[in-house]
Amino acid sequence: MNNNIIEQIKDRLDIVEFIRQYVPSLKRAGKTYKACCPFHQEKTPSFTCSSEKGLFYCFGCQAGGDIFEFLMRIENIPFNEAAEKLAQLAGVEYKPKRDTFSAEEQRRASAHKVLDFAKTFYHKNLLAANGAYARAYVKERNLTKETCVKFELGLAFQDNTQLARAAQKAGYSAADLKEAGLCMQTDYGLRDYFRNRLMFPIINHRGDTVGFGGRILGEGEPKYLNSPETILFTKSHVLYGLNFAGPAIRQAGRAVLLEGYMDVIGTHQAGVNYTVAPLGTSLTEEHARLLKRYTENVILLFDPDAAGIKAALRGSLVLISRGLFVKIATLPDGLDPDEYIAANGKEAFEQILDKAEDVIAFYTRELMKKCAMPLSAQDKTHLVTELAEVITQQPDAIVRREWAKYVAEHIGVDENLVLARLQRPGALKTRQVGTPVVSPVSATNSAEEELLSWLLRAPEQIELCAELTADDFSTPGSFHLFQAVRKAAQTGANEKELVEQVKAEVPSLAQEIIKLAMLQIPPDFQPQRDIKTCVARVKQNGVQKRLKEVQQKMKSLGAGNVPPELIQEYMSLQTKLKK
Ligand code: UTP
Ligand code: MN
Repeated sequence: MNNNIIEQIKDRLDIVEFIRQYVPSLKRAGKTYKACCPFHQEKTPSFTCSSEKGLFYCFGCQAGGDIFEFLMRIENIPFNEAAEKLAQLAGVEYKPKRDTFSAEEQRRASAHKVLDFAKTFYHKNLLAANGAYARAYVKERNLTKETCVKFELGLAFQDNTQLARAAQKAGYSAADLKEAGLCMQTDYGLRDYFRNRLMFPIINHRGDTVGFGGRILGEGEPKYLNSPETILFTKSHVLYGLNFAGPAIRQAGRAVLLEGYMDVIGTHQAGVNYTVAPLGTSLTEEHARLLKRYTENVILLFDPDAAGIKAALRGSLVLISRGLFVKIATLPDGLDPDEYIAANGKEAFEQILDKAEDVIAFYTRELMKKCAMPLSAQDKTHLVTELAEVITQQPDAIVRREWAKYVAEHIGVDENLVLARLQRPGALKTRQVGTPVVSPVSATNSAEEELLSWLLRAPEQIELCAELTADDFSTPGSFHLFQAVRKAAQTGANEKELVEQVKAEVPSLAQEIIKLAMLQIPPDFQPQRDIKTCVARVKQNGVQKRLKEVQQKMKSLGAGNVPPELIQEYMSLQTKLKK
C-alpha cells in the first residue's frame, strides 16, 4: 500500500470518531480526548487521542499510533486487513495485492472466502425446494422468513459430500475447506463437517463469518455442533449476534447475555435486539473486553435451574472483574428466552430485564436459600467468606464498599467484619484488577521530553537548539531522537508530517515519539521563550551529569592522584552550573 493512499485514508477519517466506536466513554479534555484505556485495565483515564494529530497514546501502557495501529491492535488483525477496512470506510479505492500479504494473511483471506461461499451455499439449501422439511422446523420454532434471511440461516443436507463437491467445483481446494473447518479428510475421502443440520453462521462483531453452529434437525447428538477452532475462529472469543446487536447495545445502554443461538434470534425477531450469546462456552475475559466496547451494563439472563444459576454466578465474576456492571435476571421456570418472548412479547420480556437484580443481591439471596433461618453463626461465617470472594472481584472501591454494606445488612453481621474479610491475603490474591502498569524504559528525562515535545509543535524554533550536542543529553537514544526532530524540522514539515518523518527516522522509538506528540502543552505556551528555557535546562542537566561522572572518577582515583585536567574540568563545570 503506498503512502499516498495511507495519507488519503488518514485525512478522510477522524481518529477520534473512529475510536469512539470502540471507546464510547471518550471525553474532550482541551484539544485532545481522554478515556480509560481499552488496552489495559485502569480506573482513571490515561488514554488520549487527537483529531488534529491523527494519533492515540496511552500514558499508562504506552500503546500508541495512528488509526491503522489502533484498528490492528483493538481487532488483533494484520495491517492489510486493517487497511482494507479503513479504505472502505474512507471510500478510498484500495485493492491489496496478493503478494503483499504475509503467509498468515493469505491463509486468513482464503478462509474468509470459503466460509462466505459455504454460508451462501447452506442458505440456498434452506430456501430450495428440497429444504422444505427444514423450513417447517424453523417455522415450528417461530422464526419468520425475514429472520432466516437476516441471520442467513442455512441447511446442511444428509449428504455429507455436498459442500465439498460444490466448493471444489467452484475452485476451492480440499486444503481450503479443511483449514476453514468445513470439511475433514476421512478414509473414504473428503467429507463435510456438518450434515443434517440447521446452520447458524457465526459472524463476529466485525461482520466476518468465522464459523458455523449447526443444530441437529430433530433428535440426535450432539444437539449443537460448532465449527472446530481455526485460524479465524476461537470459540471463546465470539459473541453470537454482536454484529447485529452492537449499535443497539450502545443505544439501549445495556447488553443482555443469553444462552444460545435460538435465544438471540428469537429476541431480535421480537424487537429486543441488544442480546448476544456465548457459543456454549463459559464467559471469558475476551467476552468482557468485547462487551465493554459497547456498554458497561450487562444483564445475564439464565435458566433458573441449578446449572444455569451456577453459570450465571461464575460468568458474572468474570465480567465484574473486568469492570462491567452486571445484573442477573431470571425467567419464570421452564421457558427459554426465545419461547418466553414469542409467547409474551417484547414488553413482558423487557419488564423482566428491568427487574434484574444486582449481582451481589442475587448472590446473597441464592446462598441464603441453602441455609435455615435464622442464620447460625457458622452459616454467617460461610456466607461472609463466600460473598467476600465476590466483593473482592469488584474493581471499583465505591461499589465494593456498597456491597460490603449490603452483605453485612442482609446477613446480620457488622460491616467491619465483612471488610476485614476482604483484607485477608487469600481473598485479595484473587483480585484481578488494575494490572500493574509497567513504567516505560524512557530514553528521555523530563527536560528533554518537554524540549522534544515542544519542538514538534514549534519546529520553526529549531535554531534555538543550535548549541546542543550529544554531551547535553542523558542517553544516546535521547540525542538520536533530537537529531531526528532537528532533521525533520529543517524540512519545513508541519506537525503531522513531522511526527511521521521522525518515526520513519527512528522506528525503534516510535512509541516515544507518539507520546511526545500527545503530551499536553502548557496553556500559556510561548514557543520562543519556553524552548529557550528548556534548552538551558537540558544543558544544565548535561552539566550535572558530567559533573557526577567527574566526581565519581576523582573519588575512585583518590585524593592526590587526580590529574590537573580533571580538576580543571571540575572547576569549569561548577562555574557552568552556577550560571
Ligand atoms: P441449549 O441446550 O440451552 O440449547 O444450549 P438451546 O439454545 O435452548 O437450543 P434449542 O432451543 O433446543 O434449539 C445453549 C447453547 O449451548 C451450545 C449452543 O451454543 C447452544 O445455543 N450447545 C448446546 C453446544 O454447543 N452443544 C450442544 O450440544 C448443546
Ligand atoms: Mn432453547
